[in-house]
Amino acid sequence: MADWVGVAREGEIEPGRAVVVEVGGRRLALCNVEGQYYCIDDVCTHDGGPLGEGELIEDRIECPRHGALFDVKTGRAVTLPAVLPVDTHEVRVEGGEIKIRIDE
Ligand code: FES
Repeated sequence: MADWVGVAREGEIEPGRAVVVEVGGRRLALCNVEGQYYCIDDVCTHDGGPLGEGELIEDRIECPRHGALFDVKTGRAVTLPAVLPVDTHEVRVEGGEIKIRIDE
């Protein structure tokens, strides 16, 4: 089953910023890349670093723990030490509300 869950209002997250949101006990990183929103798991696949606290550099986010870069559009690990991708989640904006689709 999949659900769309509202997590923020449009405009709350500036372009070039990422925030951590929690949905159903799961921590997610919501990223604003030039006005487009992307969502990935907050947990780095290398050693569990909090990705949403990392720096967003264009469409890549840098893990604050050891510096791996992930593509926030695809979840792909772009640089070592991470190898495995992170899960991505669909995002849409409805009536000014940012919603994330979570597969249960
Ligand atoms: S925990 Fe993210 S790069 Fe190591």
